[in-house]
Amino acid sequence: MTMTTKPSLADAPATMTVPLLDLKAQYATIKPDVDAAIQSVMESARFIQGPEVTALEAEVAAYSRVAHGVGVASGTDALLLALKALGVGRGDEVVTTAYSFFASASTIALLGAKPVFCDIEPRTYNLDPAKLEACLTTKTRAVVPVHLFGQCADMPAIRNLCDPRGIPVLEDAAQAIGSEWQGRRAGEMGIAACFSFFPSKNLGGIGDGGMVVGQDEALLDKVKLLREHGARPKYHHHVLGQNSRLDAVQAAVLRVKLRHLEDWHAGRQKNAALYRELLAGTNVGLPEARPEARHIYNQFVVRTPKRDALKQALSEAGIGNEVYYPRPLHLQECFTDLGHRDGDFPESEAAARETIALPIYPELTGAQVAYVASKIHALLGAR
Ligand SMILES: Cc1ncc(COP(=O)(O)O)c(C=O)c1O
Repeated sequence: MTMTTKPSLADAPATMTVPLLDLKAQYATIKPDVDAAIQSVMESARFIQGPEVTALEAEVAAYSRVAHGVGVASGTDALLLALKALGVGRGDEVVTTAYSFFASASTIALLGAKPVFCDIEPRTYNLDPAKLEACLTTKTRAVVPVHLFGQCADMPAIRNLCDPRGIPVLEDAAQAIGSEWQGRRAGEMGIAACFSFFPSKNLGGIGDGGMVVGQDEALLDKVKLLREHGARPKYHHHVLGQNSRLDAVQAAVLRVKLRHLEDWHAGRQKNAALYRELLAGTNVGLPEARPEARHIYNQFVVRTPKRDALKQALSEAGIGNEVYYPRPLHLQECFTDLGHRDGDFPESEAAARETIALPIYPELTGAQVAYVASKIHALLGAR
């Protein structure tokens, strides 16, 4: 089928396969540059730290409109080391959302601090600032809003509550590199921000990777120290750090991919707009893109009380999908000692029951979007 005009539901083929994410399709578009970058690291034999890592740190910082970037081994380590650099430890409380990837909360607990959960807004899935004040105590050492699915949390509202109390706000921007709120980019709005380069992110590596970015030179320098066993110079250990470095080969590939990131964001935004148009007549709940936000659509998450039936129908139709996340953080077994129960965070719990992510990756064709939309129409019908 040739797509000269905007696709409509009538363009949906009877059957096709649509993966949730197609990294092979992405690789096909950048193969010569990626291969050359890997080759160049092989030939340089500089596998740990070195010029590729330093260059990526500068480029990601510049892209995020901040002064500093420190590459680390994963987004999880970015959070762990940033929290540690902020001094979070035993006896402290750190507030984050009850509806996120596990690492948003596990990193707090791994440092011996208590994760204090805050419920979310039902349509953006981000931390609800209206519910934040009740979570803040004299023990609150930091607040970690998550820019979930690629849309920033309402940072000004969060900062309005935290700044007068002297509480630093650390952005969990693992899913949100390049996203903005009122023209300010993820990384610019908190004391620091943490990115993940997990392969499924908008800027994804060929393995694990992460980065802490920010303006605060002293804080970022602490992260740098912590990622290398707390040693400076080598073999002289000031603090208890760990090994959490970003590989040079990851950095080299990420540098190639960073050059395409804006186009890839635009591709995802175009697909999101098409979904919105084609799904407008159904009973499926569309994600709210706030007018203040530049949403980079790491995920396009819809909701329906018939989520499990929708999941089954999509899977049977050959359409990749995923539930992010089927169990909110406060109800995870490992957090039993926090004493939470069903009903504590109703919006997070409802989101865990009702949401499902659809394919949104930039290489998706209009026909594929129309096909996904046609299957949703078939199940959830017209309003
Ligand atoms: C919101 C959020 N925070 C933290 C992380 C952790 O990143 P990583 O998988 O790179 O350790 C992720 C990764 O999926 C995430 O989505």
